[in-house]
Amino acid sequence: MEAPSGYDMATAPVVTVPPPTPATFPATLRLPDALRDQWTAAAAKLTYPDYHDLTAWSAFRDASVALAQRFMPAEIRATLNEFFAPAGPAAIVLENFPVDPHLPPIPASGMRPPEKEAVSEAVITGILCQDGELLSFINEKGGSPIHEVTPIPGREGTQSNAGRVQFGFHSDNAFLPSWFKQQGILLYGLYNERTATTVVTADQILAAAPPELAALLAQPIFRHACPASFTFGDAQALSAPCPILWRDELGLMRVSAASSTIVPVTPEAALALELFRSLLDELNPARVVVSPGTALLFKDDRLLHGRDAFQGPRWLQRAYFTSSLALLRDVTSSDGRAFSFDARALLSGRERA
Ligand SMILES: [Fe+2]
Repeated sequence: MEAPSGYDMATAPVVTVPPPTPATFPATLRLPDALRDQWTAAAAKLTYPDYHDLTAWSAFRDASVALAQRFMPAEIRATLNEFFAPAGPAAIVLENFPVDPHLPPIPASGMRPPEKEAVSEAVITGILCQDGELLSFINEKGGSPIHEVTPIPGREGTQSNAGRVQFGFHSDNAFLPSWFKQQGILLYGLYNERTATTVVTADQILAAAPPELAALLAQPIFRHACPASFTFGDAQALSAPCPILWRDELGLMRVSAASSTIVPVTPEAALALELFRSLLDELNPARVVVSPGTALLFKDDRLLHGRDAFQGPRWLQRAYFTSSLALLRDVTSSDGRAFSFDARALLSGRERA
């Protein structure tokens, strides 16, 4: 590749010793056994609604929040509240939370088994909707507010939530404008023996990046493609040109990188992208095994996430969250209780309302 003017690959500083991940990141909080058991019994009495019925969904949401407020200790609620604040930590882990007492077999379809109890869904909704809101896109998994993450036969070699191969560091839905996409992701364990979810923070990436590379990554010269899990017909959806690694108005480092194609807009961008990928390979990620009853919550543009390759059974659930759905409901003229939106419409309305 020809080096662009102003950036010489041959003389660029080389990363020698990437900073280690602090052993304390992410902070982990554990629910006492007695509260877990009481919460499990109460949640098992709920019925999972047809989420297309917004009245039924709202009732389930409210009941789930009430259970979370009843069974979550004040310390965990306070930590969650701090996490949801704009300058709060990039990730937290909750352990020993309720799991359905009678889980059905792992669904090979990637769809929620209708006979499944509603315990994990009630817990996920309760965790997220005390301080934030669940968010989904109708173009992905039918607009379901909670996604099943399982290997799907025929797609096990893909870089996606349906795969088994190592899933490289990425952000979800990087193709969407930042003011429309989810602010964070919750992963919840149902079955998972040892497979780790890996995360590298934007601060870690910046600390390891040569200044010239960091400067290029901060320029709006990258376009992110829509991931394979979205159904958009024939059209390939691309973001507007945007940076990959930048400092926001709060002074926080942010990072965004699609799991599918990233299209460089300039020759400098192509080179920076190549160096960025190499840099990620050198970093030492935090590793979280999202085991049964474990919730990993992270801000999607404060870190990149990935997953180790695995062979055994695995079933996680995933939910996107955001602090408010008001803008999304407004720009899509949606019902005041809507949580699922058409990503294609959001992509065409790129300007902030
Ligand atoms: Fe992901």
